[in-house]
Amino acid sequence: MKETILPKILVNNQGSLMGRVEVSGSKNAVLPLLAATLLTDETCVLDGVPNLRDVDVMCRLLEFFGAEVTMDPAASRIEVRAGSIATNIAQQDLVKSMRASIVAMGPLLARTGQAGIPLPGGCAIGERPIDLHLKGFAALGAEIRCDKDESGDILVSASASHLIGAEVYLDFASVGATENIMMAAALAEGTTVIENPAQEPEIVDLANFLNRMGAHIRGAGTDNIRIEGVSRLHGAEHTVIPDRIEAATFMLAAAITRGDVVIENMLSNHVVPVIAKLKECGIRIEEDYNGLRVDATRNDFRATNIKTIPYPGFPTDVQPQFMAFLSTVPGRSIVIETVFENRFMHIRELNMMNACITEDGRRAVIKGGAKLTGAHVRATDLRAGAALVLAGLAAEGVTEISDIYHIDRGYDGFVSKLAGLGAGITRTKPEHKI
Ligand code: EPZ
Repeated sequence: MKETILPKILVNNQGSLMGRVEVSGSKNAVLPLLAATLLTDETCVLDGVPNLRDVDVMCRLLEFFGAEVTMDPAASRIEVRAGSIATNIAQQDLVKSMRASIVAMGPLLARTGQAGIPLPGGCAIGERPIDLHLKGFAALGAEIRCDKDESGDILVSASASHLIGAEVYLDFASVGATENIMMAAALAEGTTVIENPAQEPEIVDLANFLNRMGAHIRGAGTDNIRIEGVSRLHGAEHTVIPDRIEAATFMLAAAITRGDVVIENMLSNHVVPVIAKLKECGIRIEEDYNGLRVDATRNDFRATNIKTIPYPGFPTDVQPQFMAFLSTVPGRSIVIETVFENRFMHIRELNMMNACITEDGRRAVIKGGAKLTGAHVRATDLRAGAALVLAGLAAEGVTEISDIYHIDRGYDGFVSKLAGLGAGITRTKPEHKI
């Protein structure tokens, strides 16, 4: 039987990255935007869409629900018309491959009065419950059920003849729960107030799109979101915001290779903590006419400490990449991860590359400055994979990274963009194309 050769990324340190690189549209913005198109029977158009495996999965999920989806990857454009909803129970395989499928629940509940989803899959960075999503739906008047299906999976469903606005306090500022509740409340009767919502830029982008569709949402991006429900929403066109996590990843690629890179089409006010922390290490960062210049050519850097917290704090999605960089900086750095309970799986892989990192629960201590060496390592999740690529860029010898499907989920043209900056990087199979 023909053995399936899984793609790998090979990285060969070719010195400092130099030049300009353009950031794509945000994965964590486009996924809820796509889900929001289920809220209307009219056509919606999204521009600036990144070419990612997760976008492909979300589009297939929308088609499963009965929407017509037209993808134009060359134009970074997707058109969706959910004229009618054929089913409101999500397809199991698609949900298992992507946790973000959960954000289809709010729109389906608001549009059809019912939504069901097998408990979501996605990255393996922690248990990732959905209790806050369900708390929001219940507050809006939905009945919640959890049934075991024949395969032993739990099917979670919410149903309500119609949703009534309510006050919802989120015990944790969950991004997905904020998005789901905002979308369900957009078509509820009366006013909904979300206390302690997530404040990420992706929340603001979703609120802007929903308001373009005719919703009345105020306060997105603050600690209090107010939604006045309306009877129906109409089609709209929207351009996805740039991906702040991709931008931060390229900032760290410049830092770890002691390079000088201009990152274009990014919004520096979306990465304030990352800029602050890189400056603490001694890296020069300045606004460029179309983005940000990261000049790490001085190479006399200091260690620093990072603690991940919900936006506007230091982003958990940049923690693995920053840890790889701190491994190359002389001195002792401490990393505390407060958002996910299991987001240190990259430590074992980085230590195989001669990093010196110890972990104790949610706290990691980095003894930085050792020269990293190439090794065969495995991407354990999306951002861990990116961190290993960055480490390979600074390591002596060749680094081979497997399980790179994680990287294809969240980075559009990662290998080709890095090669464009002078990185010695290839992959053994072409990148994921929709
Ligand atoms: C979003 O995930 C992002 N994904 C993640 O990015 C990001 O790391 C995360 O927000 C935090 O910023 C997308 O937007 C598609 P959460 P989400 O709900 O919504 C707990 C990447 O690398 N929680 O804010 O799943 C949960 O266990 C990905 O691009 C509950 O307890 O994150 C976790 O510890 C990884 N109950 C914490 O909140 C709930 O009902 C953060 O989860 C929901 C969440």
